[in-house]
Amino acid sequence: MSLDLHIRFRPDQGERMEEEKRVKRRIVLVPVPAQGHVTPIMQLGKALHSKGFSITVVQTQYNRVTSSKDFSDFHFLTIPGSLTESDLKNLGPLQFLMKLNQICEATFKQCLGQLLKEQGDHDEVVCVVYDEYMHFSKAAAIEFQIPSVVFSTTSATAFLCRSVLAKVNAEKFLIDMKDVEMQDKLFPGLHPLRYKDLPTSAFGPIESMLRVYSETVNTGTASAVIINSASCLESLSLARLQQELQVPVYPIGPLHIAASAPSSLLEEDRSCIEWLNMQKPRSVIYISLGSLALMETKDALEMAWGLSNSNQPFLWVIRPGSIPPSEWTESLPEEFSKLVSERGYIVKWAPQMEVLRHPAVGGFWSHCGWNSTLESIGEGVPMICRPFTGDQKVNARYLESTWRNGIQMEGELEKEAVERAVKRLLVDEVGAEMRKSVVDLKEKLEASVKSGGSSCSSLDNFVNSLKTKNFMQQ
Ligand code: UDX
Repeated sequence: MSLDLHIRFRPDQGERMEEEKRVKRRIVLVPVPAQGHVTPIMQLGKALHSKGFSITVVQTQYNRVTSSKDFSDFHFLTIPGSLTESDLKNLGPLQFLMKLNQICEATFKQCLGQLLKEQGDHDEVVCVVYDEYMHFSKAAAIEFQIPSVVFSTTSATAFLCRSVLAKVNAEKFLIDMKDVEMQDKLFPGLHPLRYKDLPTSAFGPIESMLRVYSETVNTGTASAVIINSASCLESLSLARLQQELQVPVYPIGPLHIAASAPSSLLEEDRSCIEWLNMQKPRSVIYISLGSLALMETKDALEMAWGLSNSNQPFLWVIRPGSIPPSEWTESLPEEFSKLVSERGYIVKWAPQMEVLRHPAVGGFWSHCGWNSTLESIGEGVPMICRPFTGDQKVNARYLESTWRNGIQMEGELEKEAVERAVKRLLVDEVGAEMRKSVVDLKEKLEASVKSGGSSCSSLDNFVNSLKTKNFMQQ
């Protein structure tokens, strides 16, 4: 009898494994509908899927990732009634995010409720991982008593900055930021960042930005924070962040190396690869400002002049609408097309990873979005940094003064300065030095995501933590 009980109530290891296999462990991901956020969260999905989890991606109606062969095992859900592309145009990115958070709270609850109802006993949602800017997700997680995890697509330093800014005296900060003399001064406690490097937004007033930041860094109800970074890049900021936050911080990046998952929302023009094939090794400067940054017409012309005068070939991504009021380049003066056609190639959107990996590419002129920064370092390509908004300024400062593989272009954009910077990076000794330091960092990044590396262990620790009781109760 007792033997019988033993068999029935204490299944052996084989039975336990069978039981575990029957109950699928599902993670729900909630991305911001923008390229720079979608890309890393889909990579995170891939990384977690490779650890045995089922993945559900809950998206807004705007900028949806479509199920491709890379995500054939993923389950996609759409939050009904969310905002559209014209809302983004009318509101601008900052207000868009604020409104999205207001209107999605209730609909996301319905979505998650429905998912939980349908899943039955064979599927257990172990946590909701939401982009830090999609903080409406936490209300649903609390209601259904599912642990939530914040995913930061920016650097740890940028997260730290937002956390510091969320606590500043707003009135004094506004005065300081308007004071031209303060701009070059170091911001207390955030060395090497100066006031002008702080992640303020080009898309709205400082007051709105501070409100958004205080929401993103409010990790109060979360069980953990995952960051797409590595300790070899920013160990001090990571340590400080870990001290400040009440929950474990897991730096598991760079995710594009750990778990590549192509998720371009725009069509990539692959003709540029054929053009690159015809260029000399390390001769080309690649220019791209990511998915949101804008450029003034006069700056575009100075760029074209400077690039042309540098005598180096260039591949330039000009996203439609990124040089307003031009739809693309058609309303730019004739001079622009002439300068570009001399030794350049323009596309609307490029397969960026492939471009950076191409032997003809010797440098990257970038707005320094965090993904572009990681991708460039990951391919050992030195950079010219021209940040546009937010965390890009933090990244540009780190590229130049901490990692020493970037030249920052500050102030007015003039053709002489463009020409000088391109030559310094591609022709001069300075560029060769930067290449050495970026290759060194590239090797460290690669090691960090390999077995035994810091990011790889951090991902394992996160996955193991999902099995603990503590995690569920946090
Ligand atoms: C923004 C912020 O700038 C960034 O710091 C934050 O982490 C996310 O939101 P974005 O401005 O789009 O993102 O820049 P970035 O982070 O560099 O992401 C752009 C992505 O688009 C990169 O993964 C890049 O490879 C890809 N891309 C860009 C292309 O695939 N083709 C292109 O032509 C240009």
